[in-house]
Amino acid sequence: MKNVIAIDGPGGAGKSTIAKLLAKKLNYLHLDTGAMYRAVTLAAINENIDFDDKEKLIKLAKKISITFNKNGEIILNDKNVSQEIRSSEVNAHVSKIAAVKGVRKVLVEKQQNLAQKNRVVMDGRDITTVVLPEAEHKFFLTASLAERAKRRYQEVKSKNNDADLEEIKKSIARRDKLDSEREHSPLKKAEDAVLIDTTELSIDEVLKKMISLIEGENH
Ligand code: DC
Repeated sequence: MKNVIAIDGPGGAGKSTIAKLLAKKLNYLHLDTGAMYRAVTLAAINENIDFDDKEKLIKLAKKISITFNKNGEIILNDKNVSQEIRSSEVNAHVSKIAAVKGVRKVLVEKQQNLAQKNRVVMDGRDITTVVLPEAEHKFFLTASLAERAKRRYQEVKSKNNDADLEEIKKSIARRDKLDSEREHSPLKKAEDAVLIDTTELSIDEVLKKMISLIEGENH
């Protein structure tokens, strides 16, 4: 698939930040698929849906409208929810909702449609393996748990919110486990995805590395 860049990796590895910058540089659309699972979770919270009721969750995923604006911000039923989907309540439940096969099916279809109609940088957990295995460029970004926790901690702090590094570390580790051990589309590296460990790298260094690989592969 030409003009499609797929990026996977665990939470806090810098995927979204990098994907956003890469999309800007290449003039592609950035699609953060984690935000889509978060939007379904937010809608379930708002509608008081039992997180164990898979049928209701699937119905909900089909019913709601999830789109992105030009800035790559997520719109749930005409409302920009890019801040709301980062709440600790959404954090606490999103992995469970992302593990529901029928919910994934609805979102994967939306993601594949978007990639067919646009030039995209798409990031998530199953983009290189399930959603867009034929993407022109595939990357797996990772970093140590300690580093990922530190980044999230700094992000929360920078927004003047209270943060506890140990709590953040525990929450990331818990989601890592749920995301990689779940039955449907678990997080794993596609064999032909390029692995980049960002633990010791700055955002700029990661970006440079990816661009040189993308340009190299295109020449
Ligand atoms: O990247 P994130 O933290 O915003 O992702 C939120 C959750 O959604 C996380 O638990 C993993 C899940 N997810 C997924 O299962 N598949 C994707 N393509 C993207 C995210």
